[in-house]
Amino acid sequence: MEKTFLMIKPDGVQRGLIGEIVSRFEKKGLTLSAAKFMTVTQELAEIHYAEHKGKPFYEPLLTFITSGPVFAMVWSGDNVIALTRALIGKTDALAAAPGTIRSDFAVHTNFNLIHGSDSPANAEREIGLFFAPEEIVHYEHSL
Ligand code: CMP
Repeated sequence: MEKTFLMIKPDGVQRGLIGEIVSRFEKKGLTLSAAKFMTVTQELAEIHYAEHKGKPFYEPLLTFITSGPVFAMVWSGDNVIALTRALIGKTDALAAAPGTIRSDFAVHTNFNLIHGSDSPANAEREIGLFFAPEEIVHYEHSL
């Protein structure tokens, strides 16, 4: 079963969109495997976004992601990385397809509500950064 790391960013938390966003993944039929309401430290932000170091949006991104609490999650399911990215929509809210989370609720690339892993390798890396192995709950839906 594939796993991915999703994180509702400070803008999503402050706008009261945790329930709306989680609901979309639940209704799709994906499985929630872990969740944590937390503040991202500067150190964690720098590791998580290391690939963007040196880009013009890097420093504002670190300031933003550490500015308030986030809702970090692990979701599981067949093709969960591609499925969650499809539900989230493109990084640029202007390019995100109607019906996606970013199209429906975001207006700016810097405040795009949610992060989703883009590959199995990054999913494994990001899950490991935010969650201890014992925090991941393994179970089967019975319904
Ligand atoms: P995220 O999926 O969290 O990964 C990197 C983040 O940087 C991205 O979402 C955006 O919030 C932010 N960002 C700002 N400008 C850009 C850009 N031009 N390209 C990619 N990401 C950007």
